[in-house]
Amino acid sequence: MEVSEWCKIAVLISGRGTNLESIIKSVETGYIKKAQIAVVISDKRDAYGLVRAKKHRIETRVLEAKDFPDKKGYEEKLIEILESFNIDLIVLAGFMRILSPYFVNHFKWRIMNIHPALLPAFTGLHAQKQAVDAGTRFSGCTVHFVTEKVDQGPIIIQAAVPVYVDDTEDTLSQRILQYEHKIYPKAIKMYVEKKLEITGNKVKIKDERFEENVLINPNL
Ligand code: GRF
Repeated sequence: MEVSEWCKIAVLISGRGTNLESIIKSVETGYIKKAQIAVVISDKRDAYGLVRAKKHRIETRVLEAKDFPDKKGYEEKLIEILESFNIDLIVLAGFMRILSPYFVNHFKWRIMNIHPALLPAFTGLHAQKQAVDAGTRFSGCTVHFVTEKVDQGPIIIQAAVPVYVDDTEDTLSQRILQYEHKIYPKAIKMYVEKKLEITGNKVKIKDERFEENVLINPNL
């Protein structure tokens, strides 16, 4: 198979990039096959994820909002960069900007996001703190397709983790993060292998054992 037939992925970040790192490793080890991380784009010049990308010789771009008059101008440039790399899949990994309907529809069903809660619970910022404050016994993480409605697109995969009474935002975040690093590569692998079928607001996983749809913490 020609390299040009491979799934070309762009990862968008704003910060430390631990999810990016887990995705890079999954491609490098061959867990995700026939895929290439073509570019990592950050809206923050000092995002540590850029350092991680460079260590793996992945192209990087920085696109800071302050350099553009408005959201439309920012997103037009973002689209230009993504198209110059012939990107098939956009992976949001801690990217802190909300994408407009204009952008989302341009790449319809080709954008994924990870959220550190069991959606549809605890949308928005500080999802882990929301779970701690609510006193829930479980929280977790969700990979979903991105639609115009923030944190509401079709769910691809989730992992549940326990919440303990003495948890803080930090301890729960760390517990959830370990599972983010497992489910994001899995969701991307399934996308690359064309196993995801969207019907309405549901994602059906083709040719996949049902148990693998949801990753449940075996330590519970
Ligand atoms: C993760 O908790 C992710 O769920 C959220 O932002 C954080 C990014 O962390 N969307 P990292 O930059 O991948 O380490």
